[in-house]
This record gives sequence, C-alpha cells and structure tokens, in this order.
Amino acid sequence: MRYDSITEAIGNTPLVRIDPEVHGLRHIDLYAKLEMLNPFGSVKDRPAWHMARPHLEAAADGDGTVVELSSGNTAKALALLAGLHGLKFKSVTNRMRVPEIKELLLLLGAEIEELPGRSECLDPTDTDDPLTRFHQALTEPGSTYLHTDQYFNPRNVEAHAEGTGPEIVKDLDGRVPDWFVACVGTAGSSTGVARVLREHDPEVRVLGLVADKSDFIPGIRTIDEVHQVGLFDPGTYDSLASVTSQEAIDGMITLVRRCGLLSGPTGGAAYHGAVRHLRAVDEELAGTGRRQSAVFIVCDRAESYLSYVRDRRPELLGRARRAHAPAAVTDAEARAEARSVTVDEARQWIAGSGPRPLVVDLRGPHAYTALHIEGSLNIVDEVFEELLRGGLPFSKKTPVLLACPVGEKSLRHAALLTRMGHPDVRSLAGGIVAWRDAGAPLVRE
Ligand SMILES: Cc1ncc(COP(=O)(O)O)c(C=O)c1O
Repeated sequence: MRYDSITEAIGNTPLVRIDPEVHGLRHIDLYAKLEMLNPFGSVKDRPAWHMARPHLEAAADGDGTVVELSSGNTAKALALLAGLHGLKFKSVTNRMRVPEIKELLLLLGAEIEELPGRSECLDPTDTDDPLTRFHQALTEPGSTYLHTDQYFNPRNVEAHAEGTGPEIVKDLDGRVPDWFVACVGTAGSSTGVARVLREHDPEVRVLGLVADKSDFIPGIRTIDEVHQVGLFDPGTYDSLASVTSQEAIDGMITLVRRCGLLSGPTGGAAYHGAVRHLRAVDEELAGTGRRQSAVFIVCDRAESYLSYVRDRRPELLGRARRAHAPAAVTDAEARAEARSVTVDEARQWIAGSGPRPLVVDLRGPHAYTALHIEGSLNIVDEVFEELLRGGLPFSKKTPVLLACPVGEKSLRHAALLTRMGHPDVRSLAGGIVAWRDAGAPLVRE
C-alpha cells in the first residue's frame, strides 16, 4: 500500500465479526464497522475530508483558516487536514469536556475558542447561545473562513453514503444487513449509511442511539438534544434508543477486553445498544431456521477517554471509587434525594427573614460574567467536584442554593451534599435559564 497523501488512506475500513460467544446472539451475525481505523482515528475523517476538500484552494487565498463547531473528532480530522494543506484550524465550541481531546487538538496546532454556552453541541434554535450566534456569523455571506458546517452540510451525509455504506454492502458480499446500528452526533454517518442500505433493500432496520437524558457520552447527542440537529431526520430511524454512560463504558470494556477492538465510548454504546435491542429479535428467530445480520459502527478509539472512564468507573483503572463524585449519583437518586426549589421559592428564600442562602453558580466563568444572580459565588462544576473530594466545603449552618444552566447538574450536586450531611442545600429547578425566563433579576459583572 503506497500513497502520495495520507488522505488516500481515508475509508476502506474493516468489517469485523464479533464472536457469538461474546454477544450471545445465536441467530444473528453481528459485525463492527471499524471507522476508528481511519488515519486520523475516527468516523469523522471521511466527512471532514469530503466537506473541506472542494474549498481548500480558495481557503488558501482567503483567511487561510478552517473553522468548525466541534469539540471532538471532526476538529481533530480538520486540524490535521488544515496542517497538511498549509492552513490554520480553529475549533469553536461550548466548553471542551474531554481534557485529552483538548490537549490533542492543541498539539495538532488548533486554536480553540470556548464559548460560554449551555450544551456541548450547536443548538440552532437557541438564539441566545453564543455558539449559535457564532454559527450564524460564519454562515453569513462575506465570511472569509473555510467553514465546513458539519451540522448542516449535506456533504457530511454524502461522505458516508458514498463510502461507509457501500463498503458494508460490498464486505457482506452484496447483501444488506438486516439491522444497522449507529450513534447519533451530527447524524451524518447514520443518515448516509441508512440511505444507501435502504436503496439496496428497503427492509433494513435502522436503530439510532443517543445518550440518556442529561447523561454525557462524548461525540453524541442526548435524547433531548437530538431533534435540534440540522441533518437529523426522525424518518431515518426505525427506532431511537438511549444508552447511559455506564452502559457505553460496559460495551467499550467488552469490545476492548473480549474482542480486541480498541473502541471508545460511542463504539461501546453502539455495541451495547445493538445487543440489547437484538436479544428479543434473536429469541423470535429461534426455531425458524432463519439467520439475520447486524452492523454497528465503532466510531473512535479508547485512548482519549481515560479521564472520562476514571471519573465514572475509577475501579477499572485500579483506583478506589469516590463516594463523593457527582457521577456516583444516578438521575433517579438525584431526583429522590435532592431538594429543589422553583424560581419563586428561591427568590422568597433569598429575600426572606431567615439566614440568607449562599448562592453557588456552577456555570463557566464567561456565562457567570455575562449574567448571574446578585451576590452569587461562581464555582465551576469541575472545580466544585474537586472541592468535594476534600469534604463539605461549607459550614452546615450555611444554607446553600445551587444553580447551573438548566437545573440538572445542580440537582446531582445537591444530592451529593445532602449525602455528605449538609442539612439545607437546594437546587434551583430549571437553572439560570428558568430564572431568566421568569424575568427574575440578573446582574452583569
Ligand atoms: C466519538 C463519536 N461517536 C459518534 C459520533 C456520531 O457521528 P455522526 O456525527 O456521524 O452522527 C461522533 C461524531 O462526532 C463521534 O465523535
């Protein structure tokens, strides 16, 4: 294999059968499409190259900078492609949550601009979000950047319709799998592959996987966020299911320890979601003499997610489980154990005659600077987690009101502080967004 450019090595990834001893399905052949073996390491290599390629020459005459709203694999692929073509790369994102990826991007020479927005990914319907405003500015005529626009660019889908999908059919000797399973981030890979498979055989069933409500699996959307993606069409999927971060890690561990596949969390989520869904199908097939096949995508590799695993499953890395980590509190536990207050109740509490609660704002410093509850203290959630390692950071005599963007993180932290023995900690329901929407006063720094 001899190439003139590393870009020629993009695509033609292996399709590997998972040992039935591992997945336990007796009538279904399960295959992994190893997009992690693309040269830049992920499922995004194909769309990054396909989106950027037609504009590279013009970009060199313009600002010379490729820009994308990405905090992960698209940014990684584009940073490498930009460097390869003598261009710069700038990644614009709401907070980067996976430290290894941030450091890797810096190593690749990327400029990173982190904005004070709420969600990990672009939400075009949220016109207050700085990321949305930045996206609009990039899309307006006259922008001199090469903006690949992965959330809206049809070439994101096309890359998979021309490459990933046809390769699966070819490697199955011209047959279409009965099932195709993929995690949904921008929806590019699932949409492109599903389109091609359906052209060959409309009977194929497509299962889309997203992260469980308010859970975080890097690279994919939550069930609430998925409808905001420009390329997402619910008609693409026969069903959509959610996977928790714990299940994603379980799947990843099976792929890593039993299958020789150095998968990251979304590959694990796809494996877990596929096996869970196909178990019932497998039972129906028993005794019919029929066999089916299924394909899922392994999107990227494990190495960038060690801190992600360490936070959620420290015992896998030989560390003791931390009792006082927010990841140790499930959503159901947070709802059952934490006390939450509405905006009206919080305002009465703050203005009341009893001891004034200490209001702790867990958002990032930009968001806090822009607008916050008067007198509140800004402790970014990661720093707050560190503080909890050392025990309760407040006197038990001080009542505490925790606020975050939408009231989910603060609920977990409130549950934790309650577990740690704090007698009066409450979470602001709906977060600063609900406070703002209720017209309650906010101050600017
Ligand atoms: C690790 C990982 N898994 C899954 C996906 C989802 O792929 P898509 O954007 O094609 O929906 C992404 C997208 O960035 C990703 O980075």
